[in-house]
Amino acid sequence: MRDYTSIRLEITSHCNLKCDYCHNSEYSNRKDDMTTEEILLLISNIKNKYNINKILLTGGEPLIQKDICKIIKHITSLGIKADLVTNGTMLTETKIRELEEAGLKRIRISIDELGDISDLRSTENPNTLWNIAKEVGYKSDIEVCIHTVCSPSNVKELFNVYKKVLEVGAVRWRVFDLGYQGGTANAKTKFDFTSYYVDLIESTKKILEHYLSNNLKDVLDIEINNIFRTLLLDAKYDESRPIDIAHVLKQRVLSSPCDYVADHQLSIRSNGQATLCQYFHNTIFDFKKYNFNAEKTIKNQNEVIENELMMEDLKYCKDCKYCLVCNSGCRSRVEFLTGNIKDADPVACYLYPMIQKKLIPLLPEEVQKAYNSFINPYGKQPKYTEKDLEKFLEGKGY
Ligand SMILES: C[S@@+](CC[C@H](N)C(=O)[O-])C[C@H]1O[C@@H](n2cnc3c(N)ncnc32)[C@H](O)[C@@H]1O
Ligand code: SF4
Ligand code: SF4
Repeated sequence: MRDYTSIRLEITSHCNLKCDYCHNSEYSNRKDDMTTEEILLLISNIKNKYNINKILLTGGEPLIQKDICKIIKHITSLGIKADLVTNGTMLTETKIRELEEAGLKRIRISIDELGDISDLRSTENPNTLWNIAKEVGYKSDIEVCIHTVCSPSNVKELFNVYKKVLEVGAVRWRVFDLGYQGGTANAKTKFDFTSYYVDLIESTKKILEHYLSNNLKDVLDIEINNIFRTLLLDAKYDESRPIDIAHVLKQRVLSSPCDYVADHQLSIRSNGQATLCQYFHNTIFDFKKYNFNAEKTIKNQNEVIENELMMEDLKYCKDCKYCLVCNSGCRSRVEFLTGNIKDADPVACYLYPMIQKKLIPLLPEEVQKAYNSFINPYGKQPKYTEKDLEKFLEGKGY
């Protein structure tokens, strides 16, 4: 039985936008959303069972939930840190003040691009949102993070987005590589992946060169999904204690390939059903069915494969040279592209050799040594090539 320390909680399925790529498009505008009282009960009962330290409120658009401040107050009164991800379009000065008074310490605003018109995020105006992000930082003590979805539509512009993130004074920038599932799969004609992954590496290279040469590690925390995170810069290499790679791999294969499991996170939908993450739809727990009684719900857990998988089940990945740095990519993406959840991830297979060749050499020497010490010298090359990925994407209609 897993332990949980953080929750991603969808407090509504309703939204005022209709982004082309939304991974939650199949969950929007439902009639079975939890009521506010049910949400409060759910939070209290889970806290009684687990040592939860963070809850990320999301949706749909969480600011549509009329009792959002009441929910935040309840979370903070239990000693849990409240976090919020929003499209930002409903963030007025009054709302910001109310959220701060309720105890919100951090807000993540989703902005992908510059200019007045958004390519993929429905009717939003990116420039207005950048101004709002700046205002939150100046007029409140709430920390501002920017969430950017990187796709073929903005990948070449990513460096300019990064400069804007610095300009508005955000403390963290999280870049998500576009998920193919959900809305993306219904808007295929809008996405041309021909040079996308090469462009993603090139843009990241430009960002890293600027970031490292200006020593911005303590100014902005960056995480570009699967590719780079500021945390990596803390890696130390101790020559007197070389890594026993065979031993580390032996331990690693006995745990889940998925970060959500390792980080003890649970995703709860607006109807009270829990899934492993936003991309999987199989229900692990159904809190509503058991009247939000955490003990009873957890006793009646559904065994779903993504929750049970171990790295040792991934026959190819466990023997790949990049196993410990790649962590086998994203299981949901693998299932979507190849139809086999235990297969290698064609995107990760294509990215990792490029990361090693083009990005790792930019890092301080000690960090490079530490990174390279986790690459298995006896391991196999990644399973899939660029051509294979092209075929998988073609097979899915991209
Ligand atoms: C589903 S939204 C819900 C919160 C809010 N409505 C918003 O847009 O910020 C949560 C986050 O997921 C991101 N997102 C949505 N669809 C995605 C996809 N297909 N791939 C990667 N990220 C996605 C959004 O940009 C947003 O940052
Ligand atoms: S990404 Fe957020 S704002 Fe866009 S449709 Fe999905 S829930 Fe709404
Ligand atoms: S690079 Fe490919 S084969 Fe290697 S661990 Fe990652 S997904 Fe698996």
